[in-house]
Amino acid sequence: MPAPHHFITGAELDADRLDLLLHRAAALKEAPQSSRALEGRTVALIFQKPSTRTRTSFESGVFELGGHPMILRPDEMQLTRGESVKDTALVLSRHSAVIGLRTGDEDQLNGLAEHASVPVVNMLSPGHHPCQAIADLLTLKEALGDLKGRTITYVGDGNNVARSLAVVGEIAGLKVRIAAPSGYQITDTPAELFEDPVEAVKGADAIYTDVWVSMSDDESSAAARREALHDYAITDELLDHANDGAFALHCLPAHPGEEITESVLYGDRQRIWDQAENRRHAQKALLELLVSPRAEDG
Ligand code: CP
Repeated sequence: MPAPHHFITGAELDADRLDLLLHRAAALKEAPQSSRALEGRTVALIFQKPSTRTRTSFESGVFELGGHPMILRPDEMQLTRGESVKDTALVLSRHSAVIGLRTGDEDQLNGLAEHASVPVVNMLSPGHHPCQAIADLLTLKEALGDLKGRTITYVGDGNNVARSLAVVGEIAGLKVRIAAPSGYQITDTPAELFEDPVEAVKGADAIYTDVWVSMSDDESSAAARREALHDYAITDELLDHANDGAFALHCLPAHPGEEITESVLYGDRQRIWDQAENRRHAQKALLELLVSPRAEDG
């Protein structure tokens, strides 16, 4: 399989490419200044939604690769005033080596990928968060070694983070389970689906969660979501039902006291802060892969 052109869902990677990416990410974590893959090149990073981790990890990561991160906010772009996604893609392709987009509109992301002549990276969309998933796998690999046959259980809201974890996890040979209440579960996934969180974490090596009210969720549904998801929090008790040594993951931002207890979030049964750091290392390896010469380009 040739190197992927875009990175939209994570399914663009095959097992060998993903393995290579995770090895490169680990090497770049050991030696952050060792690659100049973006020397003298610009990466356009469009944030139509708020971000702490994605923005800081991409901005610092592009810099460490020798490139210039060009951060673009919607109020600075003609896209907000009616310029088409096609024209935006054509222009940004003339100035940048890669285009990243965080958006609440899947059509804009797909339109950008259709019309850009440089790789497009999904920095979060309503359906997918593949950049998070590659950092998750790096974190799991650091703790568990070979991921084949290992089990991770995602508990809580079946959202873009859960979907991408399942997509990329399957490529790595990881068994991904998702435990969510009725009405909050995803169906378009290779993951094994559960309703009972305790049943779902039995035999798991790690337990993962995300906020119960995401950026894309209507604030008017917040109270109902909190009530429905109440029994899906990561607690010490839930971790006790998983394998010995099982640890918690969370893509952040967290709401301690809701989807995770404060004792787990800041305790020694988690790898959440390593996971946040790993965003940078995994994304640097991804950018290296995307800008590497492709055989079909001659
Ligand atoms: N996990 C994640 O994407 O964090 P941000 O929303 O802060 O970028």
